[in-house]
Amino acid sequence: MEPERTAGTHDPDPSQAAGSAEPRMIARRRLLKFLAASPLVATPTVASAIASLLASAPGQALAQNYDVLRASRRALGPDGIITAPGDALNVFEFEPAAKKAVLSQDAPAHWGYLESGVDGDVTRDANHTAYQRYSLRVKRLIDARKVDSSVKVFGETWGSPIFICPVSSLGAYEPEAGVAVARAVGKRKHQMILSTVDNASIADVNKALGSPAWFQLYPTDDWAVTQALVNCAEAAGSPAIVLTVDRQGGRNTEDLFRARRLDQRDCTACHTPGFANDVSRKANFFDIDVSKVTNLYGTGMTWESVDRLRGIVKGKLLLKGIMTGDDAKQALSHGVDGILVSNHGGRAEESGQATIGVLAEVVDAVDGRIPVLVDGGVRRGTDVLKALALGATAVGIGRPYVWGLASFGEAGVDRVLEILGAEFVTIMRQVGALNIKEITRGNVTSAL
Ligand SMILES: Cc1cc2nc3c(=O)[nH]c(=O)nc-3n(C[C@H](O)[C@H](O)[C@H](O)COP(=O)(O)O)c2cc1C
Repeated sequence: MEPERTAGTHDPDPSQAAGSAEPRMIARRRLLKFLAASPLVATPTVASAIASLLASAPGQALAQNYDVLRASRRALGPDGIITAPGDALNVFEFEPAAKKAVLSQDAPAHWGYLESGVDGDVTRDANHTAYQRYSLRVKRLIDARKVDSSVKVFGETWGSPIFICPVSSLGAYEPEAGVAVARAVGKRKHQMILSTVDNASIADVNKALGSPAWFQLYPTDDWAVTQALVNCAEAAGSPAIVLTVDRQGGRNTEDLFRARRLDQRDCTACHTPGFANDVSRKANFFDIDVSKVTNLYGTGMTWESVDRLRGIVKGKLLLKGIMTGDDAKQALSHGVDGILVSNHGGRAEESGQATIGVLAEVVDAVDGRIPVLVDGGVRRGTDVLKALALGATAVGIGRPYVWGLASFGEAGVDRVLEILGAEFVTIMRQVGALNIKEITRGNVTSAL
């Protein structure tokens, strides 16, 4: 048995190594695959040990993995869409696969819900394209064979700075919802934030993850329900509550409404009017009396609401949806432990303001006193590195992992994380950063 690799530590690129390292690696993978398939050795325990060895094989951690060229040819489907998670070369390739899977269930409105920004999707699209305003400064002749991509956040060690953002109603894309996501995330030792309104409960997700997830909070407009949700998450061991503050103003999710026109189902069969019906498939509400709630998002919240929440949250309290340095300073003065720079993936307001464009302003405003996380439009390992260089402690993904989930379930989420992780480690090497602390503002410059 090989010694276990430390989470987030990647071996040297075998394609750079001298001699026959790469053929040896392929032979080793073939042997492991053969053993995994053999009825003689493949008891569930042995099969799972072999699976984790396969997952940790060095070649898997590399973006430029020429196994792809040597493996037997894998054609795309006739529509040019990937048919297995391993076929994806980047996370974008999961998007059409997810669309196909969701439409094959005659659920265009569910697809519209996932893709939608607001109004003309300007902010949603800006989140990603704005990463091109920054370029990376590479550094040569650094021995970057050993790279450690693990990061400490509030004393927790995460195998990667890439975390999973809260996305509601994952059950629309995979019956096990957040539990399937948690299994993939836990295996790769990332962290995740579970949505208040996922179909899976925080207790089940924490079990599947193998360690406690963070809990995203929509407080509702009934304080008793806010308290019950916080108590439930803390009782399940969740060390951080993430209050979402960007859904106060209502929104116009035009893509969803357009897709609804194509949906032949009777949507009211599930989406019956009334809050109790809205959350009747949302496990975190199962034991809570919601009879007085009229609104999930807590419309009318102010900084006083944050103080009140601060008074009951025993662990860390973060605000999700902060987009200016001024609000970040306010958050600090109200005793918040962390900030998630976010515009809800362009689903909150059509400001046109990309999250990466305001990150440095927020980071400068808090001046190292609390961690600043960011999400929105992150689709490449290089995006992750740019965000870290501009001062983010960790970087969240939303739609990409749901594309993986909708197309291939847990295996799709796993591959999305694998691809982003591999791309990220590759660019860490190129900028000469051997660990996350070595990523600094000096690594980015504005693109010409
Ligand atoms: C379908 C969907 C549902 C979402 N649900 C929630 C939610 O329940 N709570 C929340 O705070 N953010 C929610 N978000 C926002 C994400 O947490 C995250 O901010 C965003 O998806 C990041 O942008 P990206 O999708 O471009 O990666 C949702 C996003 C999507 C796409």
